[in-house]
This record gives sequence, C-alpha cells and structure tokens, in this order.
Amino acid sequence: ADNGDNLAVTPPMGFNNWARYECGLSESVLTRNADALVSTGLAAKGYRTVTVDDCWMTHSRDAAGNLVADPAKFPHGMKWLGDYLHTRNLKFGIYEDAGTSTCGGFPGSLGHFTADAKLFASWGVDYLKLDGCNVPVPQGRTKEQAYRDLYAQQSAALGASGRRIVFSESAPAYFCCQNADWYRTLSWLPQYGQLWREGWDVAVHGSANKWASLMTNYSYNVPLQRYAGPNHWNDPDFLITGDEITAEESRTQVALWSMMAAPLILSTDVAALSSESVAAAGNTGLIAIDQDSLGRQAARVATSGTSEVLVKPLANGDRAVAFLNRGSASATVSTSTLGFTGTCSLSVTNVWTGTTSQSTGTITASVPAHGTAVFRITPGAGCSVVPTGQIDGIGGKCVD
Ligand code: DGJ
Repeated sequence: ADNGDNLAVTPPMGFNNWARYECGLSESVLTRNADALVSTGLAAKGYRTVTVDDCWMTHSRDAAGNLVADPAKFPHGMKWLGDYLHTRNLKFGIYEDAGTSTCGGFPGSLGHFTADAKLFASWGVDYLKLDGCNVPVPQGRTKEQAYRDLYAQQSAALGASGRRIVFSESAPAYFCCQNADWYRTLSWLPQYGQLWREGWDVAVHGSANKWASLMTNYSYNVPLQRYAGPNHWNDPDFLITGDEITAEESRTQVALWSMMAAPLILSTDVAALSSESVAAAGNTGLIAIDQDSLGRQAARVATSGTSEVLVKPLANGDRAVAFLNRGSASATVSTSTLGFTGTCSLSVTNVWTGTTSQSTGTITASVPAHGTAVFRITPGAGCSVVPTGQIDGIGGKCVD
C-alpha cells in the first residue's frame, strides 16, 4: 500500500457521509447518495468512491474477533453494500481507527489490523480511511512515533489483504497546528498511504461558521503544495457543496479544492442538491484541473487585502489561475505571475462561463464576495514557460 502501487494517481473523488450525517448513517443513507451520484451524472465525472464513516459497527467484536456492521443501520451487511456499489460502477470506502476505539466509541483496529484488512477485502472494500482517535503512546515513544508505528502496520496489512485498497491517513490531523512534530509525518505518510488529513474537520451540518471553516481548511492546506503529487495528496476534508453555504461559496470550495489537487469528496445530501450545486461540483473544467495528471497543487503566488491568487501548472503546459475574494464586497483582481515569460498571446478560458478570450499578459477578473474566478490559460507561440519547480508559493508552515 505505498506509492509504487499507483492506487491514487489522481486525487480520489466520491462521497462520505460524515459532515452531513455524522453518526446518523444507515444503509439507505449510503444507497440514496450512491444512487444520486449516478443519477446526477457526478459519478460519471469521477465521484465514485462512497465511504461509510464512523459509527457503522456494533460496540463489540464477535466471538471470532471480527468487526460487525450494526444490523439496525446496515440490515444487509457490508458485503451487500459493497456489491450494491460495485454493480453501479462505484467503489466502496470504509472507516476505522488506528487506536483502541473510534472517535465515536466503537471498536478500533489496534491489534487487529491484519484481520480487519482481510475482513474489509472480503467485503470488497476499495478505500480505507483510518482515523487517529484513542491512539495510546507507548513508554519511550513520541506521539508522532506512536502514530507512525500504527499507520505502518495498517499499510502492511492492506498490502497483505489480497485487494488493492486506497489508504486515507487521518494521522497528521492529530498533529497539525497543535504539535511542532507534525511536519515529520510528511516524511512517512507517502510511504504508507495515498492521502492524508492534516487539519480540522470542516463544519458539520447544522453548525455555524461554515464559510470560516472552509477558509481555515484552505489556509492550512494551501502552503503544503510541495507535498502533493501523484499517489500522495493533501486532504483539506470534505466538499460541503450546497449544505448551508451559498452558491457562490460552493463554487469557491470546489474551485479552491481543485486548484489544490485535493480529494473531491462530497459530504452532503447529494439527492437534495440544487442543479446549481450539481453544476458546481460537476464543473468539468475544474475537475480536469483537479485530476490533471501532472498532479501539482497550486501555489499561492500573491495575496492583497482579501484577494488571493493561485497558479497551478498542468500537464499539457497550460496553467490554471484562480482569484479568490475572501472579502464581503466584490473586488477586481489581476495578476501577471502566471509562470509565462515573454510577450505572447495567452488564450484564457473562464471555467465558470466557458468563454475564451486572448490576453498578452495580465489577467484581470471581477470577483464577487466569497467568490473565486478560475481561468485555464493556454500559452500561444512565443510564450516561454517558467519551469514548474520555480513556482513555489508564499506561505510556510501549517499555521492557524
Ligand atoms: C474525526 C474525523 O476527522 C472525521 O472526518 C470523522 O471521521 C470523525 N472523526 C468520526 O468520528
């Protein structure tokens, strides 16, 4: 279960119940959302991994030591759910925890990694999210070493499970912004898994300050651009498109997450999304930016007042540029820091409107409050491209 396995060449996409439903999950919640991914067309655009988060199991293991799906919530069991998803060309994700119990108080995987991985494989699981609550720190080990030991064990267990299973690591979220050791996790996370959560949970359904929560998660994730690449992705948590945020804010989240080559994992009631929200999550120009095979996370190249400019190099030599307006009034933003030099013609396509115009340099956009303008820029003849490695954005450590 390491990078050589090519388990996540581009950022994973799909659905997870947590931010919308928390422990109020059930088989019908999962099948309703799986069906909606298909009927809205989002599945065909890549949103295919459907993950069951915490609270899916009973409070104790069975006599053989196996985890048991709560029969009240999942009357047909987990193998049935896996089959249901696979029949619809979707993938099956499941949640466990590296410690003694999950955050919700259900049995953790500690001491059972090998058996649990085999059980998940027998259910057809394609993706495991391993949380980091209740992880004991043995005498003589640091907190960071304790997590590393367990995530390494889980990775080996997945490798021996007989099935290709993407490994989503929650470990660094238990360090980020709280513990100076957290950066050390970035040296081992990519050896064991394909994506990692390094910050807070996005605000769940019904909680206040969702916009602030999105901006917090964006802010801690954006400086981590050098750690992203094929099979190793920074995960700033779920898309909450349409769930108590405005249409403009929904578009901004999809835009910023795509620029950051982040996993696009909806945690919303997909069946209840407005056509506007489906259009935001399903914007093909943004999905192409997110899923671009070069696998670069955008660099934040400028900030000014409430405006920020991000640039993401793309595999075909194009550049994506985004203008975020965090402020509460419309703003006009422009940039010349696109990574092209020389006087040449740039073809500039607005991903929201689909319109293309020509420019010889500076790109300017009028951006509504809480909005994000995104352009895909194709250099014409005579444009020299600054090597991608030279775009190293401003920002630094994970701070909040
Ligand atoms: C903390 C994680 O960050 C959340 O995404 C969710 O998995 C909960 N734990 C479940 O208890």
